[in-house]
Amino acid sequence: MKRNFVYISLLGFLFLSFIIESHNGIKYPDYFPEPIYDFEKNPISPEKISLGRALFYDPLLSKDNSISCASCHSVFNAFAHTDHDLSHGIDDQIGMRNAPALMNLAWHTSFMWDGAVNHLDMQALAPMEHPKEMGEQIGNVIQKLNNSTLYPKLFFKAFQDSLATGERMLKAMAQFQLKLVSANSKYDKVKRGETTFTDQEENGYRLFKQNCNSCHKEPLFTTGKFKNNGLPIDSTLKDLGRMNVTKKISDSRKFKIPTLRNVEYSYPYMHDGRFQSLSAVIKHYTNNIENNETLASELLNSIELNSNERVDLIAFLLTLSDKDFVFNREFRYPKEIFRGASKLD
Ligand code: HEC
Ligand code: HEC
Repeated sequence: MKRNFVYISLLGFLFLSFIIESHNGIKYPDYFPEPIYDFEKNPISPEKISLGRALFYDPLLSKDNSISCASCHSVFNAFAHTDHDLSHGIDDQIGMRNAPALMNLAWHTSFMWDGAVNHLDMQALAPMEHPKEMGEQIGNVIQKLNNSTLYPKLFFKAFQDSLATGERMLKAMAQFQLKLVSANSKYDKVKRGETTFTDQEENGYRLFKQNCNSCHKEPLFTTGKFKNNGLPIDSTLKDLGRMNVTKKISDSRKFKIPTLRNVEYSYPYMHDGRFQSLSAVIKHYTNNIENNETLASELLNSIELNSNERVDLIAFLLTLSDKDFVFNREFRYPKEIFRGASKLD
């Protein structure tokens, strides 16, 4: 009897270990769709990921060497930042938008709240050269990298050539970000049959599928499309979202649907960080949707949820928290890479 139990557990273990499989150098479960990112053009290697991780955490990428990507994208907040609604860059300048959480980027069809960037390899240029974010020119960054004692070694390990170039830098940064896969929340464990929802979570899941899943579609919890979810326009920023890129009036006030994975950690919410809590978000969807020309059709009739249902829906959203993601040591500041290296000499 005991022995059968051991065999069954062992079989279970072998089976489970096949479910999060390694594909193209990143790991994700078989119920995820095929990634959008073309890994053949940028084959993943541990050395390039390490280089990308160092760059992500290095303030050398900014004009006055004060701001790194991680200043606005903190691992403990699922790579969003929680201390302000709008992002803060060099010289403490305030940006236009809330820093989005970063995860499962291999499945993104476009980047930024308005989709202004269409390829992950190009994405890092935007904050580096943005006058209110890092305010630096890529040419200067490359020069700083080539003049440092650390980076020629890291570029050599990654590319068998110690020369830093823009393309190599961007590809390595994309690799670190591609590695940020979140797929081990309670939701995922339920999906893989490793555990079950409580009654409250189960009811929240039902309400989610009824009211939210058309846009925040599982398992990635976004379709990646642009929609107007009925937020009243901000009187100072007057951000028109997708229309800034396409110039079409029909895209006015549409923003990229954010993932809801790790939403427990990625507050404040929405493109301008206007809501501090999930209950404020739910209240928006039930009471405060503003009806205007581009409002998504599924939100024309307001969503009705009683107070128990709101609590259940939030209980479900909390099952999307992935502690293995936010506490993953491989995603943190790489002490071991920077140790002893004086980067600016
Ligand atoms: C000053 C704060 C700040 C810094 C520094 C910063 N970001 Fe961002 N990041 C943002 C904001 C704000 C947005 C959303 C911008 C928009 O929608 O226009 C964003 C968007 C992104 C996105 C798109 C995510 C999505 O879901 O569309 C990625 C990827 C990203 N940043 C990576 C980086 C990298 C890599 C660096 C370093 C080179 C970096 N960021 C530096 C604030 C920052
Ligand atoms: C018609 C599509 C649509 C539906 C339906 C929808 N949302 Fe959203 N949701 C969006 C869009 C678009 C945004 C981003 C809007 C912005 O920032 O301007 C968003 C943002 C959010 C955010 C903020 C996430 C972040 O990281 O800032 C949360 C939380 C959220 N929605 C939860 C829900 C819940 C819960 C439901 C169901 C009750 C729901 N949504 C239904 C489109 C939708």
